[in-house]
Amino acid sequence: MRTAGPPNHLVYVWSLRVRLFHWALATSVAGAWLLSEDVRWLHEYSGYAAVALVVVRILFGFFGTGYERFANFVRGPSATLAYLGDIARRRERRHLGHNPAGGIMIVGLLCTIALIALTGWMMTTDTFWGDERVEAIHKLLANGLVVLVILHVTGVLVASLSHRENLVRAMITGWKRPNPDDERSH
Ligand code: HEM
Ligand code: HEM
Repeated sequence: MRTAGPPNHLVYVWSLRVRLFHWALATSVAGAWLLSEDVRWLHEYSGYAAVALVVVRILFGFFGTGYERFANFVRGPSATLAYLGDIARRRERRHLGHNPAGGIMIVGLLCTIALIALTGWMMTTDTFWGDERVEAIHKLLANGLVVLVILHVTGVLVASLSHRENLVRAMITGWKRPNPDDERSH
């Protein structure tokens, strides 16, 4: 259902820092993944860059403003499950910021990246050097991250189609069309 207001009447949703964070994170995670078997030092630097970005994102999730705050989009289990049910019934509400399903995915992505970097760092320490269990966990989490990223991009595409908007473009420009009924909605 198209619910646009006047065509040029757009709302600025994603701050420059959220957009820079997003594409830098995607690049560093992809870099760490693609370089995992060949260029070890670049693999490690890309992984550390990813986790540094995650730490910065957590800070402005708590202390930032507007749509970037976790309080704006992280919901409890029942609200998240209810939203997933609404998606299945194709009647989910459009959110200007992240929707509850996107919110739980973001928490999952950030935690998984942090754990991958932690286990990666552990492999470089004297205590866990050559420890096959840590290596196995690192690889398992990295494979899990690939699954999450595929689900994340699928979710973005499904939400874009469902609400007839280009969410990828919004993550580049920052602008989205408002919800006419509630311009300050989540
Ligand atoms: C390794 C790859 C990726 C990771 C780790 C990742 C992670 C994230 C995170 C953490 C957010 C939340 C942004 C924030 O509030 O700070 C997000 C949002 C978003 N991502 Fe990604 N992303 C990845 C790849 C992609 C790709 C390839 C696309 C494009 C198809 C994409 C499109 C988006 C969009 C459109 C949003 C905003 C969703 C919404 O409107 O609620 N992401 N992503
Ligand atoms: C988002 C971040 C990361 C991703 C996606 C990732 C992914 C991977 C993957 C898929 C492998 C397995 C490669 C293979 O099959 O041989 C690997 C191996 C490895 N990673 Fe990472 N990694 C990340 C971060 C890090 C960090 C921060 C470090 C350390 C500073 C690190 C250290 C290592 C090491 C030492 C191995 C080699 C294990 C072996 O001996 O085979 N990784 N990583």
